[in-house]
Amino acid sequence: MKKKILITGAAGYIGSILSTELVKLNYEVVAVDILKYEQNSLSHLHFYKNFKFIKGDVTKPSVVKKILKGCNYIIPLAALVGAPLCDKFKKETKRLNVDSIKLLIKHLNKKQKIIYPTTNSGYGVGEKNKFCDENSPLRPVSLYGVTKLQAEKIILSHKNSICFRLATVFGYSYRMRTDLIVNNFTQKAVKEKKLEIFEPHFRRNFVHVKDVVSAFIFAIENFNKLKNNIYNLGLSSANITKLALAKKIKNKVKNLKIKIITNAKDPDKRDYFVSNKKIENAGFKASIPLEKGISELIDLFSSSDVDFINNY
Ligand SMILES: NC(=O)c1ccc[n+]([C@@H]2O[C@H](COP(=O)([O-])OP(=O)(O)OC[C@H]3O[C@@H](n4cnc5c(N)ncnc54)[C@H](O)[C@@H]3O)[C@@H](O)[C@H]2O)c1
Repeated sequence: MKKKILITGAAGYIGSILSTELVKLNYEVVAVDILKYEQNSLSHLHFYKNFKFIKGDVTKPSVVKKILKGCNYIIPLAALVGAPLCDKFKKETKRLNVDSIKLLIKHLNKKQKIIYPTTNSGYGVGEKNKFCDENSPLRPVSLYGVTKLQAEKIILSHKNSICFRLATVFGYSYRMRTDLIVNNFTQKAVKEKKLEIFEPHFRRNFVHVKDVVSAFIFAIENFNKLKNNIYNLGLSSANITKLALAKKIKNKVKNLKIKIITNAKDPDKRDYFVSNKKIENAGFKASIPLEKGISELIDLFSSSDVDFINNY
């Protein structure tokens, strides 16, 4: 048996795919989640002896002490995610996104290794004409961004840690999120045959959920080489505008109408390209093309009438 890995928020969009891949690679996986949204996103793993699920709340000290026991790697994914949700539940956001991370760090021993994802959403506010790298200033405008940045600092105080600043994730997961822009545009394109876009020139960086999972696995396997550092994690060829994204979807969805809305502003002010050179130079390169993810999503939304539950 390989190393023991604790994943919190394991039933979520990223966690359910990550848990599946790690179990298949024969790691011993302890998956913890309060099951706020999807109840069955990990059901397929109960066949495996190297998988253990614990329903628990990571804001509770007794739970945290118990789940950390014997784990070599900790991947804390439990969070309230996205600006609209965090604005709705401000107290819970601080308690989960910041205080639970403090609690985790307090109870870790020095040997335990931690890999943490945060958002790059603070880049690009006022950095219009350049590629943002890990040294670019972060100016988060939402409570979500602020709490994730606070958590990143707390994580890095543990001298056995790696932080990934993720681009906007896309692709299918056992717990589907349709608030993420690629997933959202593709769903609307398939279901409504119409896309309305504010501020179409705004640029963003994207990454497939399976590439995110591969990066976590790369980090586990190359921990000492990467540790005590922050890395942007995105698909370098997917630094594109919202309009270019819509056109890629239109190439695959017949009769899609794209309407540019000129008299409204996007509350999300991100407009930036991101450099992923640091992680690429360290040996990991995201590679799943945006077009492949869009095709998967078209298949999903065309073949399913399920209404996916969103967290906003
Ligand atoms: N998806 C993205 O585009 C993206 C981008 C950047 C960073 N991230 C980060 O990745 C992580 C996972 O994001 P996601 O997209 O999978 O979100 P998600 O909302 O799908 O998953 C979060 C999971 O946490 C669980 N949870 C909530 N409160 C809990 C609690 N008190 N105790 C235990 N579990 C609890 C939920 O039930 C859910 O399954 C988050 O930390 C997020 O900030 C995601």
